[in-house]
Amino acid sequence: MGMFNNRKRWRVPAGQEPTDLDRKVMAFESRGALVPKRSLIRTPEEIEGIRKSGVINTAILDLVGEKIHAGMSTLEIDELVYNYTIEHGATPACLGYEGFPKSVCTSINEVVCHGIPSAHEILKEGDIINVDCTTILDGFYADASRMFVIGETTPRKQQLVDVAKECLEIGMKAAKPFGFVGDIGNAIEQHAHKNGFSVVRDLCGHGVGVKFHDDPEVLHYGRKGTGMLLVPGMVFTIEPMINMGTWKVFIDSDDGWTVVTEDELPSAQWEHTLLMTDHGVEILTH
Ligand code: MF3
Ligand code: CO
Ligand code: CO
Repeated sequence: MGMFNNRKRWRVPAGQEPTDLDRKVMAFESRGALVPKRSLIRTPEEIEGIRKSGVINTAILDLVGEKIHAGMSTLEIDELVYNYTIEHGATPACLGYEGFPKSVCTSINEVVCHGIPSAHEILKEGDIINVDCTTILDGFYADASRMFVIGETTPRKQQLVDVAKECLEIGMKAAKPFGFVGDIGNAIEQHAHKNGFSVVRDLCGHGVGVKFHDDPEVLHYGRKGTGMLLVPGMVFTIEPMINMGTWKVFIDSDDGWTVVTEDELPSAQWEHTLLMTDHGVEILTH
């Protein structure tokens, strides 16, 4: 079996000359690195498509930021997202995804992610809410989320929101071409711990662009030099979920979606869709 070379992930199509990039990745693979499949490298046309989808996605989150206020229901946020998306010729990726019933995820306070918008859920002063929106335009996916603070919140909750944003930024800086996905998680985990917060382990970032969820798996914790090799042309999310208390979470059995912290202390998350370039990541959702 060891003589066969057909377990390689990075395969140059028959009849094509390997490029410099091919040679470089194949050298990593022969040294035992987990490399992406070559099909994860997006073409310039695909990148343009994801970028356009990202423009709409960003405008949606900007709109939510303008309209969000105490007294509003999370269903009203869903309606904003649905209407803007459709009016711009796009589709909300969440709607009907594995049975998800709404167009966007709205996750308040101790809800970590995948909160379902509802007419009965009314935003109040001091709430922190994550709005996570994925847009499909011409078949291309852009996935991003932001936190919004309703009025003023406690200093510690505000710090959680700020540190979660810094974790995303620090993770983006740690993502280098021909580095590893584990470099990202390691940097995020250190920053969260330094501030006395924990990192959710059960959910991760992901490849995105031509599918909703693709390789690589982007853990927000872990060791440098582990996980998949980062190759220019890959498109993926970083989306750290940072908790005030325990990192442990559970899924609300009533709806099968809502992810909640085990100790019911608050959680915050920010997400971008990112393109790996020759220099570092480029944000496709701002
Ligand atoms: N947008 C989420 C992510 O970042 C996924 C939401 S799936 C849904 O990957 F079904 F809950 F909408
Ligand atoms: Co998302
Ligand atoms: Co995502």
